[in-house]
Amino acid sequence: MGRIDAAGISCHCKITMYDRSEVKERLRKALEFYRELGFEYLPVENAGAAGGRRTVEEARAGHIRKDGDEELKSLRAVIGDCRRCRLSEGRRNIVFGEGPPHAALMFIGEGPGRDEDIQGRPFVGDAGKLLTKLIAKMGMKREDVYIANIIKCRPPLNRNPQEDEIAACLPFVEKQIEIISPSVIVCLGKVSAHALLGTDIPISRLRGAFLQYRGIPVMPTFHPAYLLRNPRDKWLTWDDMQKVLEKMKGG
Ligand code: URA
Repeated sequence: MGRIDAAGISCHCKITMYDRSEVKERLRKALEFYRELGFEYLPVENAGAAGGRRTVEEARAGHIRKDGDEELKSLRAVIGDCRRCRLSEGRRNIVFGEGPPHAALMFIGEGPGRDEDIQGRPFVGDAGKLLTKLIAKMGMKREDVYIANIIKCRPPLNRNPQEDEIAACLPFVEKQIEIISPSVIVCLGKVSAHALLGTDIPISRLRGAFLQYRGIPVMPTFHPAYLLRNPRDKWLTWDDMQKVLEKMKGG
């Protein structure tokens, strides 16, 4: 995988030799796909670093630039009854994500599990209950934050999503981030952190320090499902969340 501070699609491209016309065709298709999603520019390294982004104060005061609700609805419509990858074959529901369209804090998990697949909502199973408790401990309500996943369909038997499945779905969460424009992102677990940050550094080493995704501070931390299996590490995630709260205060 690519660089730690790069969050663009380039990080997920395999380096393969193509002839010129094939490169052109692939580029054309990729650009069409991003345009279909409503991107006005491509998510490449250093693009828009902080520029034009809301300050933490504006975000907390609820300043709204565009109708985020409408934009999220249009994005959901673009996803439609998605058949872009094999995960569509076994899913019951697409789990788009939920929360205020201009939430200051965004949590990004891996992908739906069984309960999420049934209900069509993110983090509603046991891991979700722990996440909801964590949010409450941070002094917020679940309804105050936006919760999404890297992939929007449940993998069979909850296996890890494969690289091509992540590549097919990543533009959607990227677009959600663009619309919501949160002040801080929390990546829950390695799949989320690796996909968004373009790194393969183990989550145990990544967590606890802010990285950047297109100018937005990103805190990688343990996935709540991991914490259910390893409750002794909960304090580490709590430590990470203190840093998130500080950052949201402008620290
Ligand atoms: N795990 C995730 O990563 N996402 C969910 O929505 C639920 C469990």
